[in-house]
Amino acid sequence: MRVLLSGGAGYIGAHTALALIEAGHHVIVVDDLSNSSAEAIVRVQQLSGVAVPLLVADVRDEPALRAFVQAHSPVDAVIHFAGAKAVGESVADPIRYYDVNLGSAIAVLKVMAAERISAIVFSSSATVYGQSESLPLSESSPTGIDLANPYGKTKRIIEAILEDAASADPGLAAIALRYFNPVGAHPSGLIGEDPSGVPNNLMPYVARVAVGALERVGIFGDDYDTPDGTGQRDYIHVLDLAAGHVAALEHARAGYDVFNLGTGVPVSVLELIAAFERAAGRSIPTEVLGRRPGDVAVSYCDPSKAGRVLDWIASRTIDDACRDTWRWQSRNPAGYGSAADRRAAASGSQLGAGAA
Ligand code: UFG
Repeated sequence: MRVLLSGGAGYIGAHTALALIEAGHHVIVVDDLSNSSAEAIVRVQQLSGVAVPLLVADVRDEPALRAFVQAHSPVDAVIHFAGAKAVGESVADPIRYYDVNLGSAIAVLKVMAAERISAIVFSSSATVYGQSESLPLSESSPTGIDLANPYGKTKRIIEAILEDAASADPGLAAIALRYFNPVGAHPSGLIGEDPSGVPNNLMPYVARVAVGALERVGIFGDDYDTPDGTGQRDYIHVLDLAAGHVAALEHARAGYDVFNLGTGVPVSVLELIAAFERAAGRSIPTEVLGRRPGDVAVSYCDPSKAGRVLDWIASRTIDDACRDTWRWQSRNPAGYGSAADRRAAASGSQLGAGAA
């Protein structure tokens, strides 16, 4: 099938684009490149040997999105990754988060209706479970919009919009995938996570310390009620996550459904750092700091529904993720930036030569 990826130049989008192509599908990408790089698409093309059409536009620009879809008709499905994703930023600027995230989802659904596209897979998040007490988290664990931050609320609200849209349109298949903590990179070292500025999340922070770009990892609390006192998360390799999208799309049936995508295995901050030290063969300086406001002690999922219904299971370990992140980070210490600059400089000099 032909699949439109909104936000397809981002971390998870680029890995999913590659997985879809490898599974025999065609992909087209819309991305405003506000938190991603066109270089990611160049690398996906390099790895797959297939051209990936890219529209650089805000997903909320409905006429542009519609024209792009029409130019690549027929489009069979959408995977909607586009959105703003920094928790702290969402607390500081909630209106922008509601505007961007809800506006993007609504624009995508409107274009889908106009162009008769009947399947959507949406990037939701484990954050919709908030401070749930019962672990592991299953799809029936309590959620609500009464969550800690506006980012998480937008994810939960978009799930509700999809559910309503699917019940109003009996032909629509809508699937929300609740990601746990995506980590890792493509084993080639060509695509990976490239956060702008200082990373908020643990794995990219550790990777930047390992490469010498940051001094030490701050451990946000070592007094939690966990085996070693540090927070535990369910870290899922981005290749497993990408495979989960392919499985969801291939399974899509009319109606709304939701799946956790995680490993089911809790890993602590100290365990992740130790795994990274093994992968990189160097020690990572750390410093224990206070707890980060809003953090839960432990979060991990019951992934059995995705196993049962989608025939999907996460097969990669935290060691695999650290090894692949290290390969990506050590080969691309400045992320996509330096390669993109080199490419622009090269095409600029070619243009110059041609014009002379
Ligand atoms: N941590 C540190 N030091 C750091 C960064 C993180 O000790 O520099 C710890 C955190 O306290 C937590 C664990 O590492 O225990 C993981 O933190 P991340 O920031 O990597 O991930 P979170 O679980 O906090 O965030 C994830 C998603 C968000 C989502 C959030 C909801 O990345 O998109 O879950 O809880 F909103």
